[in-house]
Amino acid sequence: MASLSELARQHTTLDRAAVEHLQRLIAGWGLLADFCFADLLLFTPVEREADGTTRTGDPDHFVVLGHIRPTTSQTLYRNDLVGEVMTAEDRPLVARATRHGQIIEDEITVTSIRERVRVQCIPVVRESRVIGIMTRDSAPLVGRQPGELERTYVAIFHRLASMISAGDYPFPTDDADSEEPPRVGDGVVLLDRSGRVEFTSPNAISALHRIGIHGNTEGMRLVDYGFDERIIRSAFSNKLPVTREVERGIETTVVFSCIPLIEAGEVTGAVLICRDISDLRRRDRLLLSKDATIREIHHRVKNNLQTIGSLLRLQGRRLGSPEARAAIEESVRRIRSIALVHETLSRNAEDDVPFLEILKPILRMAEESMVTPENPIYFRVEGDAGRLPAQVVTPLAVVLNELLQNAVDHAYPPEAELHGGHVKVTLSRVEENLAVLVADDGVGLAPDFDLTAGAGLGLTIVRTLVETELGGRLAVRTAKPGTVRPGTLVELAIQLDAPWLSGDDEMLRRPTGEMPAVVVPGGPPPEGSAPVEGSAG
Ligand SMILES: Nc1ncnc2c1ncn2[C@@H]1O[C@H](COP(=O)(O)OP(=O)(O)OP(=O)(O)O)[C@@H](O)[C@H]1O
Ligand SMILES: [Mg+2]
Repeated sequence: MASLSELARQHTTLDRAAVEHLQRLIAGWGLLADFCFADLLLFTPVEREADGTTRTGDPDHFVVLGHIRPTTSQTLYRNDLVGEVMTAEDRPLVARATRHGQIIEDEITVTSIRERVRVQCIPVVRESRVIGIMTRDSAPLVGRQPGELERTYVAIFHRLASMISAGDYPFPTDDADSEEPPRVGDGVVLLDRSGRVEFTSPNAISALHRIGIHGNTEGMRLVDYGFDERIIRSAFSNKLPVTREVERGIETTVVFSCIPLIEAGEVTGAVLICRDISDLRRRDRLLLSKDATIREIHHRVKNNLQTIGSLLRLQGRRLGSPEARAAIEESVRRIRSIALVHETLSRNAEDDVPFLEILKPILRMAEESMVTPENPIYFRVEGDAGRLPAQVVTPLAVVLNELLQNAVDHAYPPEAELHGGHVKVTLSRVEENLAVLVADDGVGLAPDFDLTAGAGLGLTIVRTLVETELGGRLAVRTAKPGTVRPGTLVELAIQLDAPWLSGDDEMLRRPTGEMPAVVVPGGPPPEGSAPVEGSAG
């Protein structure tokens, strides 16, 4: 179905401000339909032919820009009429109201439904110009006496209809604070020009009870019952609608919308619509506390991991063998890198985190682990990976920890006399493709290095996590063989939108053996180097 602005563009020469006026009218017209217990249609004269040429003379065709059914009564039209073009013969009153710019009412026979319909035509006026006609279409009243509520609602509708034809309604601003505007069925209080209560609907009485206003409020001001009247005063003095939530304790929230009624530029009263939204707010609070719980869990996991690290370290100190102590130290480091992820997650409500927040402390950890100050190693990060989901961040943090540690451990051995060097981590993210490069300018890999066979525990962990947890690709090679500082280059490529990363369902895990095609920025490896591709399975 075409939108109002599309239909207006197609059939009319209305300018943007006029179209926006009509859009604001239908944005809030559920209220109007409910007040008048009838279908509302919005017509505008067709000013453009199908071939784009402009029509002149009296309008004789009208396009339906909008249609709304009341929630307080039955509809007359089962079909959606939006986009239909009707002639002046179909809708004689619409043509007449367009010409005269006045509200008119009569009974006509609508041929499409073969029924008599009571039609009221309300010109929609903006800056003294009729830009549309809103019709209220209802079944003719036959001998039924409407009750007080119905009479009051219809009277409110008539006052709003006069405002439409005077250009005072819809209001020039959107009522921005109301994500869920209250509806007529929620409860209506009618205020007179001095702000006293003229009428209260049964649902409004219940809503007022919820915030502690008991008794018969008719003829009284709500402020006398302790109601915060600022919303009413603001609507009266600014001649604009105001919406505000009123809380009573933590259990009750009622939202009030105050719509001023204007006649000849004067506020002659207001409609206060109230809705008990305690249930909605309770749900919001529950969600909020669920977030807090998840954060708390991450916090505890981090604490537990730190405790495990401390226990291991204590145990390591008692060991005589330097090899055993080194092994324990390494385990402590690995645990710390996972703890870092949980620490970051405990600070974020979301389940994705800015990866740089995790990478920085991992770099610091590698820096701290350097033993010889004569061989300073400088670490640097380039680029950004943006926010990454928790499933990706944890294994990636462990992987980077291993790779940085390898640079510290192996790239600058004292016998090579390189006197330290530079290690650079490059992150690049193009949509859902993440590439991570870790490059050092150290001694490079041994000529017979084989990632699949001879690697130690560190690179085995890296390969396992990249290929199985992340479903990515890994390549490790000497960057510039034959030079003084050949350096080692590790390339990772991960596809973040891969199904096994988005779902937590175990079944979605990537079957090992089939590699996603991900391109690592930087192009193919230079001539003469021997890239070592990890192969899964
Ligand atoms: N940046 C690097 N520069 C030079 N050689 C490296 C580099 N990274 C890894 N290597 C070589 O690859 C080998 C395997 O690394 P890996 O991390 O798997 O084991 P490790 O570091 O020796 O032991 P662990 O990580 O379990 O302490 C290393 O022993 C080293 O020879
Ligand atoms: Mg290692």
